[in-house]
Order: sequence, then structure tokens, then C-alpha cells
Amino acid sequence: MLSLFKLVTLLALTTPSFAGSSCIAFDASMNLLLFNGNQGKDYNAGTSDTWASGTAKDITTTGRPPFNGSNVKCYLAQFFNAIYVLGADTANANDIYIYDAGASSWSQQHITAPSGFDPTNFQAILDHDTNVIYGLSGGETFSLDMGELKAAQSSSIAWLDQGVANITTTNYNPVMAIAQNHIFFYGVPNIPAGSLNIFVIHFAFWQPDAQPFTGSAQFPDSHGQATSFFLDSAVQENIAFIPDDGSQTFISNVQTNTTSTMPGPTIVDASATYFASEKELVQLASSGAVSWIPFNPSDTSANSGAKWSTVQSLASVAPPSGGSSSGSSAGSSASASGNSVKGGATGSATKAAGGSSTPSGSATGSAPSSSGSSTASREVVWGSGLALSLAGVALSLL
Ligand SMILES: *[C@@H]1O[C@H](CO)[C@@H](O)[C@H](O)[C@H]1NC(C)=O
Ligand SMILES: *[C@@H]1O[C@H](CO)[C@@H](O)[C@H](O)[C@H]1NC(C)=O
Ligand SMILES: *[C@@H]1O[C@H](CO)[C@@H](O)[C@H](O)[C@H]1NC(C)=O
Repeated sequence: MLSLFKLVTLLALTTPSFAGSSCIAFDASMNLLLFNGNQGKDYNAGTSDTWASGTAKDITTTGRPPFNGSNVKCYLAQFFNAIYVLGADTANANDIYIYDAGASSWSQQHITAPSGFDPTNFQAILDHDTNVIYGLSGGETFSLDMGELKAAQSSSIAWLDQGVANITTTNYNPVMAIAQNHIFFYGVPNIPAGSLNIFVIHFAFWQPDAQPFTGSAQFPDSHGQATSFFLDSAVQENIAFIPDDGSQTFISNVQTNTTSTMPGPTIVDASATYFASEKELVQLASSGAVSWIPFNPSDTSANSGAKWSTVQSLASVAPPSGGSSSGSSAGSSASASGNSVKGGATGSATKAAGGSSTPSGSATGSAPSSSGSSTASREVVWGSGLALSLAGVALSLL
């Protein structure tokens, strides 16, 4: 009888070490950085005008984290040109590694946390103006003041408990974005599509009612990924939300409270992460593939017609794992895995399985599009479907 341990080992062996252990970020000059890309190195791909060819610069250097956590998060402190890297060292799960993008150097900031904060299970944003990280873990809100740090200080910094979140957090796998010093929560249970709960940072105030967004499109009430576009130096105004089904990219402006759309990513991957600059939205897929789409803050028709492309200069130095093969069932597999993530319980399982490097790990096929207008074929990364097929392989070895 094949033991559960062996099955887990088999799954682990087929999951590349970087799944969830890498991240992308922009520095303050809007250079694209990839940390712990395939082959375990860090890269600076420069600005978007250089991404179509050539090779990104290897910036791997001493003091970097081991990148062995499975849920690495990266944030840009724009005023300090520093990247804060969370969850990248399982031996120091709370610590934050700081990459000083100006000096190209690393330091390790010691962080303490109250028992209610789970460093392996939280979502967070970095507030642009105050440089405070706000996190939601187990239904509780926490804050962490990063001061003006672009290198670690000798004394530790503590996550502070800011009380129970005044939104439904049971069965909620949080999706948070920052704009205008407000935190916006997507996919909160019992909140209709097109509306977001809001926490007003400066007054530590939960708005009693969700804010409706009008406009040409309505984002679904679903789990997904959210990230904010930077402005030259001011607070963010536009949030990109990519639901797990990847059907479209929803852009919400928090001044006008309207939503418009851009195409969904070519690689449909509920485990992908995203980072936006001023004029680009970038996806890091669990295969390690990095793709981007241009964004124009003042031209919604340009945005709706924009196209996703591969960041070639990163693909040439850190090629994505796995090949692709054709298969028409891929679309339904992806949407099944997307649906399963909403409750939160299976989110991490999908994350672990989604990063397969096996040749069967991805397939192309037509994916459903909520607009019904897309004819592009999409590369679909199998999430739970892959885990199931691997489980089948394991069982057949009995
Ligand atoms: C992660 O790296 C740290 C530092 O090298 C090490 O102490 C820890 O055991 C590693 N964790 C895992 C799960 O390999
Ligand atoms: C939570 O929100 C409700 C309205 O939705 C409000 O009545 C209540 O006072 C709030 N509680 C706290 C602690 O802010
Ligand atoms: C947009 O929503 C915010 C947050 O609820 C609100 O303060 C603001 O007045 C709204 N703006 C408009 C133009 O409706």
C-alpha cells in the first residue's frame, strides 16, 4: 500500500521549488525585478522598453533570503526605493528581507508578531504614504510600521493587533488592494459583485457599507489577485483585479468609483501573482513565466485593446518550466480549480500543485471568456486537475 507520505513526497518532487517562492516587483524607477526566478537567481529586467529582447541583468547577491517559503510577498516602498520581501525564509517566518534597490544590497529585519498572526497564512498591503504594512490573518487585522527603512535596523519591529476585521472573514481567502490610503477587499462573502468593502487607514475605520463601483464592467464576486498601479509619487488610484478564472482584468478607479476592463492574462493561473508599475501590469505565473500588458491611466479604450506579451529578457535567462501541449479540456480544468479556491480552504493546495514543471503541466485550449469575444487561445496551467492526475499516477504505482 502506498503510504500517504509517499504520495505527498511524489507530489512534492513534481512541484518545483520556486512555486510560490518567487516574486516580482518594480523599483521606484519602474525597473522590473524578479526574485528567485527559475535557477534560483534574481534579475533586474529594466524598464518595459527593454523587455522584448536581450537578457535581464543578474542581480543575485549575498544576504538575500533563502526563498524557501511557499507564499513569498514583495512590496515596493516607493519613497525609499526599497523592496520588502515577506515569507521568504521558513526559519525566520516573520522576518522581512529588505532589498535596497538603489544600493543593490540586502538586509534582514527581525520582526515579532503576536500569537494571533499566522506568518504562513495572511494577506497584506503596504500603505503608500505611511509605509505601514496592514495584514489580515485569521479574521484579525495587524499593522507593521516600516518607518523609513531601506535597510534593517538593529531593533526588531512588531506586528500590532488592530482588532477584528469588521467584514465577514469566515470562509474568506482575503484579496486586498491599496489605493488612496484605503484598503479595498474583493470577494468578501455576502457582498455583491461590483462592490468592495473598505478600511480607511488614517482613521482605522471600516466603512459600514460596501462601496459600489459603476462603469462599463462589473468585477465578479470571486477570489482573485489584486494589485495597484503606482503614480509618479502620489497615492495609487487604480487597482487591477484578476479573478481566478482569468476571464478579464478589471480596472477600478477609486476616484470615480468606476470599473473598466483589460484582457485577461494569456496564462490562466489562479496561483499567479501580479505587480503593477505606473504603466504596466505584470504577471508571474507558477511556471516562472513573466508576462505583461501596457496600461494607460487615461485611456480605457487603449486598455481594452491592449495585449499581453512575454517579458523576453527574463524568459531568456530564467525560462519557464514545462512545455505545452494541446488539449481542449484545459479550459474546464482551469475554471474548476478557480471555483474551488473561493472558499479559501483549497487555495494553498491549488498553489502547491499549480507550479508543476512536468511537460504535461500546461496545455493550450480555448478558455471561456466572459465577454464572449476572445478568440485567442490561452495557455492554461493546470491546478487541482494536475494534482488529481498525479494522484492517479501514484495510485497506479500501488
Ligand atoms: C529555509 O532556509 C533557512 C536558512 O537557510 C533554513 O534554516 C531552513 O531550514 C530552510 N527551510 C526549509 C523548509 O528548507
Ligand atoms: C461594524 O460595522 C457595523 C455596520 O456594518 C457597525 O454597526 C459596527 O459599529 C461596526 N463595529 C465596529 C467595531 O466598528
Ligand atoms: C468613491 O468611494 C469613496 C469610498 O466609499 C467615497 O468616499 C467617494 O465619495 C466616492 N466618490 C464618488 C465620486 O462617488
